[in-house]
Amino acid sequence: MSGTKEEDRKGSSEWREFFWNPRTHELLGRTATSWGLILLFYLVFYLCLAGMFALTMYIMLLTLDDYKPTWQDRLATPGMMIRPKGDQLEITYSVSETESWDDFVHNLNTFLSPYNDSYQVQTNDNCPPDQYFIQEDSGEVRNNPKRSCQFNRTVLANCSGISDRFYGYDRGQPCILIKLNRVIGMLPGKDGQSPYVTCGAKREDSDKIGQLEYYPPNGTFNLMYYPYYGKKAQVNYTQPLVAVKFLNASLNTDINIECKINSNTLSAGSERDKFAGRVSFKLRINDK
Ligand SMILES: *[C@@H]1O[C@H](CO)[C@@H](O)[C@H](O)[C@H]1NC(C)=O
Ligand SMILES: *[C@@H]1O[C@H](CO)[C@@H](O)[C@H](O)[C@H]1NC(C)=O
Ligand SMILES: *[C@@H]1O[C@H](CO)[C@@H](O)[C@H](O)[C@H]1NC(C)=O
Ligand SMILES: *[C@@H]1O[C@H](CO)[C@@H](O)[C@H](O)[C@H]1NC(C)=O
Ligand SMILES: *[C@@H]1O[C@H](CO)[C@@H](O)[C@H](O)[C@H]1NC(C)=O
Ligand SMILES: *[C@@H]1O[C@H](CO)[C@@H](O)[C@H](O)[C@H]1NC(C)=O
Repeated sequence: MSGTKEEDRKGSSEWREFFWNPRTHELLGRTATSWGLILLFYLVFYLCLAGMFALTMYIMLLTLDDYKPTWQDRLATPGMMIRPKGDQLEITYSVSETESWDDFVHNLNTFLSPYNDSYQVQTNDNCPPDQYFIQEDSGEVRNNPKRSCQFNRTVLANCSGISDRFYGYDRGQPCILIKLNRVIGMLPGKDGQSPYVTCGAKREDSDKIGQLEYYPPNGTFNLMYYPYYGKKAQVNYTQPLVAVKFLNASLNTDINIECKINSNTLSAGSERDKFAGRVSFKLRINDK
C-alpha cells in the first residue's frame, strides 16, 4: 500500500525508457536500423502497390476503343422520343393563339434544320433502301470515318415544315416527330423488313384520336440507317425520323397517345421495361 508511489515512479521511468532507452539507443523499443528497415519496407511496399495500380489502369485504357463502347447495356429494344418535346411529354395548345404553338414550330424548325435536302446531299450518301448499310472494319484496319445515309427533310412531306411551315399546328392538325434512340450495332429488322411506328390512343381515348398520317409512308425507319457505328465513327449520322400527323383529333379534350415500334427482331416493351420501343404523350388541342 505504501509502495504505490514507488511503483508509480518505477512505472513512469519504465515508460520513459521504453520511449527512449539511452543505453541501447532504442526508440519505442527499436533501434534506428530497425526503424529504417521498417520504413524502407513500407516505402517499397506502397510503391509497388501504386505501380501495380497504374499498370492495371494503363492496360485497361489500352484496351478501350475510341470508336466502340467496351460495355453497353444489353438493352434489347431502345426507347423512343418525340419532338417537339417540352418539360413533359405533353403537346397542349390553342389553335387560335399563335403564341401557344409558336415554340413547338420553332423547336421543330431547329431540330429539322440539319435534315435539309441541300445539307444531306453535302454530307451523306444516297444509299440503296431496304438493306443495311454495312461498313465493317476489316480486322485491325479501321474503316473510319464511316459514311451515313441521307435522310431528306422532304421525305416528311406535310410534316417537313417546307410546304406547310407551321406543321399543321395552326389548323389543329399537328405533326409529331418520333425517333428511336441510338444503339450502336443494333439491327432493327430482318428479311428486308424495316421496322415501323404505329400510334394509337389509350383505350378510353380511342374515339378521340381521329385519323393519322405517317411520313415516310407506313411510318418506317428504313434499314439503310442501320447499323449505327457511334458518334465518333459516323460523324455525319442523321437519325431517321417518323412523323405522325393528327388529321382529325378531337378538340378541347386530353388524348393519351402511345406510339410503338413494330419490328421482326425487336420485341416491343414488356412489363419489365415499359419504355422499350414505345413512347407515350398527351395531346390536347383547344380551339380557343
Ligand atoms: C434549312 O432550311 C431552312 C428553310 O427551309 C433554313 O431556315 C435553315 O437555315 C436551313 N438549315 C440549314 C442547316 O441549311
Ligand atoms: C435527297 O434530296 C436530294 C436533292 O433533292 C436528292 O438528290 C437525293 O436523291 C435525295 N436523297 C434521297 C435518299 O432521297
Ligand atoms: C461529313 O460532312 C462533311 C461536310 O459537312 C464532309 O466534308 C465529310 O466528308 C463528311 N464525312 C463523312 C465521313 O461522311
Ligand atoms: C398533304 O396535305 C394535303 C392537304 O393538306 C393533301 O392533299 C396531301 O395528300 C398531303 N400529302 C401527303 C403526302 O399525304
Ligand atoms: C406500306 O405497306 C403496305 C402493306 O404492308 C405495302 O404494300 C406498301 O408497299 C408499303 N409502302 C411503302 C412505301 O413501303
Ligand atoms: C372527324 O371526327 C369527328 C368526330 O370527332 C367525326 O364526326 C368526323 O366525321 C371526322 N371527320 C373525318 C373527315 O374523318
